[in-house]
Amino acid sequence: MKIAVIGTGYVGLVAGACLADLGNQVICVDIDESKITSLEKGIIPIYEPGLEEVVKRNVLEKRLSFTTDSAKAISDSKIIFIAVGTPQGDDGKAELKYVYAVAETIGKNANEPKIIVDKSTVPVGTSRKVKELAEKFSEHRIEVVSNPEFLREGSAVKDFLEPDRVVIGSDNSEAAKAIEDLYKPLGKEILITNPESAELIKYASNAFLATKISFINEIAAIADRVNADVSEVAKGMGLDARIGKQFLNAGCGYGGSCFPKDVKALQKIALDCGYKLDILREVEKVNEYQKMLPVEKLKKELGSLSGKKICVLGLAFKPNTDDMREASSIKIIHALVKEKAQVVAVDPIAEENAKQFLPKIHYEKSPYAAAKGCDAVMLVTEWNEFLELDFAKIGAEMNSKIIVDGRNAYDREKLVAMGFKYIGIGR
Ligand code: UDX
Repeated sequence: MKIAVIGTGYVGLVAGACLADLGNQVICVDIDESKITSLEKGIIPIYEPGLEEVVKRNVLEKRLSFTTDSAKAISDSKIIFIAVGTPQGDDGKAELKYVYAVAETIGKNANEPKIIVDKSTVPVGTSRKVKELAEKFSEHRIEVVSNPEFLREGSAVKDFLEPDRVVIGSDNSEAAKAIEDLYKPLGKEILITNPESAELIKYASNAFLATKISFINEIAAIADRVNADVSEVAKGMGLDARIGKQFLNAGCGYGGSCFPKDVKALQKIALDCGYKLDILREVEKVNEYQKMLPVEKLKKELGSLSGKKICVLGLAFKPNTDDMREASSIKIIHALVKEKAQVVAVDPIAEENAKQFLPKIHYEKSPYAAAKGCDAVMLVTEWNEFLELDFAKIGAEMNSKIIVDGRNAYDREKLVAMGFKYIGIGR
């Protein structure tokens, strides 16, 4: 199948490369010339494990190519994926100008009936508007299918090729079937529904996961007060198949490019149809509080943070990405600096991006160098390399042996036995 993917952000690029890997002829389009030139040379603009390999392999086998010429890519392809950004607008609503601009371009350049696949996360009802808009500029029939993505940064290639489910939203059975055929080789569950349901599935899924995190974070607050261990509580809850084990790690809050934005956008969608989604307001409130919690706990332990040297382990919003968007580290470090603490931070790959948000702190390459002379070490992002540290060596470098485990990732008993003061979240 000949496919064009418009937008080479992480969703578009992963989708394009993986669809090519499934044997399709894919052309990825972007307006950013330098990005396209880099991609043609095999330079991947984002950090995404495994992506470079899939891109290079498919470029070499001539199934994947890149262009800035959207008109040609559209006229050459039967199926056109929209994978442009939908950033948060002023009122919390997703900004749709990029999606609509692409819809118009597709309409203007359609030389035969086309199928548009909307992969961008868009408010309910957008697919129908995209169809209206594209058809307004075209003399051909244009079908629109909503096909939300559930990719996680850091495991996006795997998530695309081994999804829990594929959701296809369309009122047109032929268009739905064409997209179903694209995903059939994956051998996974495919749900075909109407466009509105597909659009809502995306927001509801992300909002539910964010709610699960804030819920366990509230349980952690209780655990802290009643001598329970939230990790054990989560384990006990997660063994119930109806609840499930995932997304029950209490800690210093969720971040990233999706959860914060989608939780806001779903509240706006609700308001626009006359419903107030109170539960998500609380989810956000808990999450903001959670980001401050490690600092509050440390302040309680040390009395004052003024002049104290604090080593922050991990800056990215989660491990295996260099993405700093809405990262808990930003709020935590701002709070530490406000308390006049001296911050030394280390992250395996997010340092460059972090400097845009946190230009004034000191950066180190190794956790051992960062821990030197520190009054406390604070784990904010649970990168693998921070989990297996030589704690005897870390402790020997420190001024006072305090560990704030913002992700409940360390073995508390082991650290206590080594003479550390261990401060977790709800344990
Ligand atoms: C998320 C969704 O998982 C994905 O399906 C969607 O397509 C995009 O948004 P992503 O933003 O890459 O993916 O990150 P994810 O792995 O879901 O983690 C989000 C945040 O939640 C991170 O900050 C993480 O640290 C935090 N988190 C996750 C917790 O605090 N506790 C948990 O138990 C799980």
